Amino acid sequence: MFHFFSQKRLKSRGFSSGQKRRKPNETAMSEMMRSGWQVRGLLFFLFATLVSAWVIFSSSANSIFADNPLQAVVVITVITATMMVHWHVSLAQSFTENSKITLMLSVILTQLLLVKLSEYVAMTFAPEGGFKFLVEPYIYAPIVLSLMVGRRHGTFAVVYASLFGGMTVTKDDAFLFVIFSMICGFVALYLTNRVRRRSRLVGAGVYSGVACVLLAFTLGQIQWPGFDAPIEQWEMVAKQALSAILVGTLTAVLVSGLLPLFEATFRITTDVSWIEMADLNHPLLKQMTIEAPGTYHHSLVVATLAETAAEAIDASPVMCRVCSYFHDIGKMKKPAYFVENIGDGQNPHDELTPSMSALIVMAHVKDGVDMAIKHKLNPHIVAVIREHHGTSLIKYFYHRALKLRDEIQTAVDEGKAHEEDIPEVNEESFRYAGPRPRTRESAIISLADSVESASRSLQKPTPKKIDELIDNIFRDRLNDGQLDNATLTLADLAKIKKSFAATLRSMMHTRIEYPKIEEGADKPRQKKTKRLKKKVDVAPEAGESSTAEKATSGS
Ligand SMILES: [Fe+2]
Ligand SMILES: [Fe+2]
Repeated sequence: MFHFFSQKRLKSRGFSSGQKRRKPNETAMSEMMRSGWQVRGLLFFLFATLVSAWVIFSSSANSIFADNPLQAVVVITVITATMMVHWHVSLAQSFTENSKITLMLSVILTQLLLVKLSEYVAMTFAPEGGFKFLVEPYIYAPIVLSLMVGRRHGTFAVVYASLFGGMTVTKDDAFLFVIFSMICGFVALYLTNRVRRRSRLVGAGVYSGVACVLLAFTLGQIQWPGFDAPIEQWEMVAKQALSAILVGTLTAVLVSGLLPLFEATFRITTDVSWIEMADLNHPLLKQMTIEAPGTYHHSLVVATLAETAAEAIDASPVMCRVCSYFHDIGKMKKPAYFVENIGDGQNPHDELTPSMSALIVMAHVKDGVDMAIKHKLNPHIVAVIREHHGTSLIKYFYHRALKLRDEIQTAVDEGKAHEEDIPEVNEESFRYAGPRPRTRESAIISLADSVESASRSLQKPTPKKIDELIDNIFRDRLNDGQLDNATLTLADLAKIKKSFAATLRSMMHTRIEYPKIEEGADKPRQKKTKRLKKKVDVAPEAGESSTAEKATSGS
């Protein structure tokens, strides 16, 4: 309340904008909910309890644990514990994310319910049987998890949903159920790799249904009637095959419809949604084309570089593309202060002190975050905007500030200025506020951003100069610790470098000066190679070595 009145007073005097500063709402409680082992343990305990209750209460006289519920509890608890260890070992990163554990366990539980429901429906409408193993939605959990958190989680769901599902059917059917569930699940997983359109998801459902039909023929669950069989038998085969394909398709349609709900609940964005967001007609991007055309072009090039590199290391290319489009929207507040929009006109930084220039340049991150939140952009885009410069140093203005200080110091020594005129130059004041990139995609965009800015001022580019430029930027970022939180391996970085170099070479193809082979060069091969090497090794032009430094500053 007091804060409100004090802010109002400051606003009336012109000392405050009246806007509240956004603070991250991190508490120990929210941290524990997000990754605390206590919550994780509780989730697995709840899962084991619910599966045990479901297996015991849904079991019939022929079920595996019909006579011994205690045995059911012990077996389910042991399998759940195995699942925990398996997850911890093979998917260590997501094991600490309680939201992903909640998603995985709830989806497996839902699949168990859907299997029982479909069995009930099949028995109601066809009590004489014939649809056993054909109408179960085996692919529900695998495709939800494959789309939401990746195929490795999907394989996990296939195995454990099949094992737990096998306990809910009769003793005689358990083995065949596990076979059907695993094979159909893996087929669906294979088909949902990098699904980016809802139509392809439905297609995956259809093909999984076809796989189920083929499996049913192979395992004798659909009897081939023979060409001289009565029409009724052929009708039955057609009904069985169609029902399997229909259930596969309907399961995919159900998943497609539920995806937005899952995405909103678990704050995960799938490739399907990223593709829908990759629309250059977004009002902010349209505004950018008018107010900051240089930044718009820069963002498109960064998007291409980042997307290609993400493909090379199996990160999310479409997420990289969309986040790159928006990474510099904050520059629209003061477009004229950024090098890509200056052109041949007057540089407004000439009129400013280096520290003031650095403040203006740094503000584009905070302004971008504010604009993204105001326009309700995806939280991953907000994170990329916040992280794309990490805590890097704006070297260009920092060195200008040091130079200015030295000049004033010389003036003081010569008695032309006062001691108090010497400005204090603190390196921290020239660093972005961060945080440093925390995901692979964010790190790729951050690197692509620097590489694109540096490449713009590359004079007479050659493949060698491009490689050197990229090497310098990567070395600089690594040494400065900017990639410490991004879980990128050295092998990933090597692939990203290679991808950037290839993309830049193709983009600058018309500008690249390839070494020429002199006419009449019909001398021995060894001598020709030597001459080529000599031409490529031409020293970079004066002033170009500072290109990477400039780039890391204002991009
Ligand atoms: Fe940028
Ligand atoms: Fe930027």
